[in-house]
Amino acid sequence: MNSTAIGASPRRIDGRLKVTGTALYTSDRSLPGMLHAYGVYSTVASGRITGIEMADARRVPGVVDILHHENFPRLYRTPRSGISVATILTASITDEHRLPFEDNTVHYGGQMVALVVADTFEHAREAAYRVKVSYAGAKPVIDLEHGIKANGLHDGGRAHARGTPEAVFDQSAVKIDAVYRTPVETHNPMEMHATLAWWEAGDLHLYEATQGATVHRNTIAQVFGLTPERVTVDAPFIGSGFGSKLFLWPHSVAASAAARMTGRPVKLVVPRAYMFSTTGQRPETRQRLRLSAGADGKITSIRHESVNTTSFIDQYVENCGGMTQSLYACPNVMVSHHTTNVHRGAPTSMRAPGAAPGLFALESAIDELALACRQDPLPFRLANLSTRDESQNLPWSSNHLREAIELGSRKFGWERRDPRPGSMTEGPEIIGYGLAVCNWDAWRTPAEARVFLRSDGTASVTCAVQDIGTGMYTIVAQTVSELTGLPFEKIDVRLGDSTFPAAPVAGGSWATASVLPAVAEATRNAIGQLRTFATEDGAVFAKAKPETLTMRNGQLSDGKRAVDYASILEAQRFASAEGFARTGGAPADKLSFMSFGAHFVEVRWDPGISRLRVARVVSAIDVGRVINPVTARNQVEGAIVMGVGMALFEATEYDERNGMPGNNNYAEYAVPVHADQPEIDVILLDHPDLEFNEFGARGIGEIGITGFAAAVANAVYHATGKRIRELPITKEKLMA
Ligand code: MOS
Repeated sequence: MNSTAIGASPRRIDGRLKVTGTALYTSDRSLPGMLHAYGVYSTVASGRITGIEMADARRVPGVVDILHHENFPRLYRTPRSGISVATILTASITDEHRLPFEDNTVHYGGQMVALVVADTFEHAREAAYRVKVSYAGAKPVIDLEHGIKANGLHDGGRAHARGTPEAVFDQSAVKIDAVYRTPVETHNPMEMHATLAWWEAGDLHLYEATQGATVHRNTIAQVFGLTPERVTVDAPFIGSGFGSKLFLWPHSVAASAAARMTGRPVKLVVPRAYMFSTTGQRPETRQRLRLSAGADGKITSIRHESVNTTSFIDQYVENCGGMTQSLYACPNVMVSHHTTNVHRGAPTSMRAPGAAPGLFALESAIDELALACRQDPLPFRLANLSTRDESQNLPWSSNHLREAIELGSRKFGWERRDPRPGSMTEGPEIIGYGLAVCNWDAWRTPAEARVFLRSDGTASVTCAVQDIGTGMYTIVAQTVSELTGLPFEKIDVRLGDSTFPAAPVAGGSWATASVLPAVAEATRNAIGQLRTFATEDGAVFAKAKPETLTMRNGQLSDGKRAVDYASILEAQRFASAEGFARTGGAPADKLSFMSFGAHFVEVRWDPGISRLRVARVVSAIDVGRVINPVTARNQVEGAIVMGVGMALFEATEYDERNGMPGNNNYAEYAVPVHADQPEIDVILLDHPDLEFNEFGARGIGEIGITGFAAAVANAVYHATGKRIRELPITKEKLMA
């Protein structure tokens, strides 16, 4: 096999650029005459600005301007409705719906209330510290329970109902009724959110830390009342995002406006502390699960009612019940979503939105139900797997969950599990085994790409999609290599620039499934033009029919003779053969597309020193065809490490007195470090889902975190006999 084709494991082509510091991120950029901007952020979470005292700030040398609600230009909002996967290439999407500095209202702690623009970063920051803002503060609504008390529940939609779950539950002898809670978690990508904006002849240009150059371009154009053609957004590399960089946040608008007002380029980097308030978070959830089972161990009813916090100005729904509708076979199901308003910044998608907290609840509850049935949770799950998507009444395009559970359990050694809690020990440690299923939607959106086969023997590919650290550069090159036989060093991939063919955001685990078909089609179109050139009068295959020529090893062949394509172009003095393609979404009406998997987790609890750790993980994942086993496995490993954080550490804490995020830094917002990382064994099933796209590949970025926290909670129960229904599972909760 071609060692850089689809299914092979070539190294990341951007790896060397990143580890040598050659890859430039937005905050690394500078432009001549550039100014620096630094925000002034609210110190109350609710209320009104009554005054802004700027004299002291203006005395700092180099200060050029201070923006606030009284002098900020009037801009435009983006629509809240009409957004869908099908229209993503032309969509304008903001996460925080309010425009920055729109009025004097404070909706959350850490809201940007002024912006200082100065000649250096240090001057801008110093002056920002000297801006004195006074407030008429009101008592903030600080968390989910207070939100419900203060302003009740709002319908979040995305409901599902079938059968008669209430009646079945009431008559059932075996049932569980439990409430699960997950805290606010904050995205902490290594790369800070940042914008570098400048204007030229009325056109706006941005370097931006974004997961989607096309959508960011559309959105900022809308906000400034420009056509998208007059805006460019460039983001060749980003230091991840986890969902926080999907859509527009206030700093990008503020930097763009400041650049227009000052007539100079303006760079704005969001300080880490304010990435806890102004660039999104996974909201707090409360989920009530009511499940029943028959004497035969079959699930007879499932109800999953979810509430999440949202800001006072945005209606963000965390789709916790999304997977619950169809993961297990069950005739009686009810799923509902509600929101309640709190004084926090706008929540947004964070890796596997909905499914990550939702499957913590569902897969914990399934374990509890298995125990109530006096069954091992593994055969209990196997006996209740779905054979079709019962929520849509459609067949699965491809579902190998049974195989994932069986393979994972063998590799993990589940048969060694003694079901009695606390019964397995080694030295001072108590060992717990837990399992949970993972599940994530498979989406595919429209996408565009352009491919040039050049007369110097190289190929070049352009597409506006991001590589957020997933390996997109590499798998795009693999796709071109697959179809042309060119080696990697001959393939130049350019991504993340809105002037390139349009692409969806790199999110939702849909980029691979959406973009590779466009790249493949563009490559075939380029080969098509090459064949036409090669069969013109006087050309090397002048007598042949174009469609009979094949492309292999960078050569065109009529079956008798193979000729380097570069020499064909060179002989006819063509610079290149070119192909463009726009491909569509997945067929949605006949099949249901989803990815599946199973996590097996060993935890170790040392009661003598109150130490809990995740020691070993085996995860078997069914995401269709694996394009690159190295980058794919790396995605799942990363998601598992993030899952360890979700299970044991992560929680954004808000000060009860003023609603301000307290642990808003890398020191106090705990995420896993090397010492917390378990032994991880990822099994990729690699069954192509050819109904989904030509390569049979679904996405892989998110599924690995789904269900993981439940697998840990189930293992913790097995080790300690304590059922922790509220994340994170801290030692304090185990010692209580
Ligand atoms: Mo993902 S949360 O869609 O970046």
